[in-house]
Amino acid sequence: MKPVKIKENVYWVGGVDWDLRNFHGYLTQRGSTYNSYLIIDEKITLIDGVKHYLFPELIERISEIVDPAKIDYIIHNHVEMDHSGSLPQMLKVAKNAQIVASPNGEKGLKAHYGEDLNIKVVKTGDTLKIGKRELSFVLTPMVHWPDNMVTWSPEDKILFSNDAFGQHIASSVHFDDEYPMNTLFDEAQKYYANIVLPYGAQVQKAMTTVKELNPEVIAPSHGLIWRKYIPEVIAKYDKWASNNADEKAVIVYDTMWGSTQKLANAIADGFENSNIPFQMFNLQYNHISDIMTELVEAKYICVGSPTLNNNILPTNASFLTYLKGLAPKNRIALAFGSYGWGGQSIGLVHEDLEKCKFEMWDDVKYQYIPSQEYLEEVTKIVMNNLKKERK
Ligand code: FEO
Repeated sequence: MKPVKIKENVYWVGGVDWDLRNFHGYLTQRGSTYNSYLIIDEKITLIDGVKHYLFPELIERISEIVDPAKIDYIIHNHVEMDHSGSLPQMLKVAKNAQIVASPNGEKGLKAHYGEDLNIKVVKTGDTLKIGKRELSFVLTPMVHWPDNMVTWSPEDKILFSNDAFGQHIASSVHFDDEYPMNTLFDEAQKYYANIVLPYGAQVQKAMTTVKELNPEVIAPSHGLIWRKYIPEVIAKYDKWASNNADEKAVIVYDTMWGSTQKLANAIADGFENSNIPFQMFNLQYNHISDIMTELVEAKYICVGSPTLNNNILPTNASFLTYLKGLAPKNRIALAFGSYGWGGQSIGLVHEDLEKCKFEMWDDVKYQYIPSQEYLEEVTKIVMNNLKKERK
């Protein structure tokens, strides 16, 4: 387990979580890394930690470079335990280290690990001289928790961005240009959609800072380190944070006896006839985190559920709960479904989509099995709605 040199005397020393497949509900089919960085200067400085069970990896990598007992500062950009879980073990080794954190970071770390932590509190614009380097800090609240900050090393032109710009990818290579580019950007999009999406306004603010710094390297706390595709990933963050989605649609549904699926297909025909790309997601076969990944770039969302026990199907409930939490903005939505007698599901889907503050089209609902005539009508309804939107 070797460290990876990023620049002279700056190393990646994190942990690789090959087996991770679920990150609080987000399907992480490629695992992840928790990136920790070590700077060797007059003061030995560690930036962020790893999940508690990867502490042995962290120590092994650090020990290849320096005795971990000599660490002077442990900068914690973020409290969440995927980055701070190793802190209690680290402090048993680096007994004299002082922790550096934001004001909310101090509160969070003490709440997690005890009031007697030795913490130097920093705010935006504060600096920390560690030798020839003078690190500075920018608070980035809600990207991803209230405590988040980023650390900037002007001498190395490295931005240690913590959760921002991350991707859940476990890999034996550590730089963006060493990994298949499409997969990297797909995973960056999935990460944004499932972790960062609710905080678009805060991300836009943070992007202003990032552009001003003009980093040569962006070193996030998950996945690959950016050194080649920095303009591209910044452009993507700008786009995603703006909620200015593309002319694309996602059609999400579950079905009991195939009737809601027929409606979904008729809706899809409406988009196809209007030359709008769409993606179908049957909730029986698709994970909600993959649907959100597609939705982050799609303007239209159609959600269908048949009625079961006066309600929506549990798969729809799960998706809609997740959607409301992640709260994409400026979408146009349609609720649809087939029913036997009560037909409550369509109204319930509509209510949830409305709670997201989406622009709503009129519901599409049909009792029992939709006739061919009705399916053709649904296709026309979608086409007409799209015509109106495009005027
Ligand atoms: Fe990777 Fe918000 O922790």
